[in-house]
Amino acid sequence: MAPPPEALLAQLAGCAGLLSLFTDRVDGALLDAVGPQLRVVSQMAVGVDNIDLDACTARGIPVGHTPGVLTEATADLAWALLLAAARRVVEGERYVRSGGWKTWDPLFMLGLDVHGATLGCVGFGRIGQAVARRAQGFGMRVLYAQPRVLAAAEAGAAQHVPLETLLRECDYVSLHMPLNAQTRHMIGTPQFELMKRSAVLINTARGAIVDPQALCAALQSGRIAHAALDVTDPEPILMDSPLLQLDNLTITPHVGSATLQTRDRMALLAADNMLAGLAGVRMPHCANPQVYAPG
Ligand code: GLV
Repeated sequence: MAPPPEALLAQLAGCAGLLSLFTDRVDGALLDAVGPQLRVVSQMAVGVDNIDLDACTARGIPVGHTPGVLTEATADLAWALLLAAARRVVEGERYVRSGGWKTWDPLFMLGLDVHGATLGCVGFGRIGQAVARRAQGFGMRVLYAQPRVLAAAEAGAAQHVPLETLLRECDYVSLHMPLNAQTRHMIGTPQFELMKRSAVLINTARGAIVDPQALCAALQSGRIAHAALDVTDPEPILMDSPLLQLDNLTITPHVGSATLQTRDRMALLAADNMLAGLAGVRMPHCANPQVYAPG
């Protein structure tokens, strides 16, 4: 369990470095309570939406994070969710264990083709691109939507389109953008209205990118076919969430980067960032590099 804010405050006062997880809220009040000797925040995660970066920058505190080392593991999990949703793997498992499997039926538990389908990545940074690379092996057409159009060498076979086009044309829509004021609830009722009824939404980024009420309504009404979520809003998901009643939801507990090797790499990078911050030298991966700007 993440420590409650009061416990964090009590234990952190006087520290020079703060190693955070994305379950910790790091804001101006926390920084002030830790004290003016705080020189560095190092987060063991790529996403830093739990940290008030402006408050850190204003106090001259560099914030480390761990991009790159978790790209492939997170892309693997996005694919695990995509395949599980398309082929109803979790539903099938539940069915077998509950004693339902009695015979073979040509029309039983039909899923959706993955090979030859169209994949859309909303957000096309490192993780989105890694998800797209895997799609080549499945003979998929890949579209991406984000403000920045990539050079051909970076985009590979993926085609840049407006978000509306991506939502209309894709069979699988996978989210890979950071959570910020622009992306909070960016996928809501108007976006679900554009999607195919057979579409699958995959979210391994941050839960709050999707409006949870709109998602629940879209799944209940069959507006989209399935959602596969590694992240939710709130997190953990509440046990009385109506989403948990739905068979067309596949869910995992925020484990995108959870492999032995990847967590080792994240821990080492977080330690390197911390040591650089404590030594007052530029850290390998800083989320607020403007803190180093002269003047
Ligand atoms: C995990 O969600 C991360 O941001 O690393």
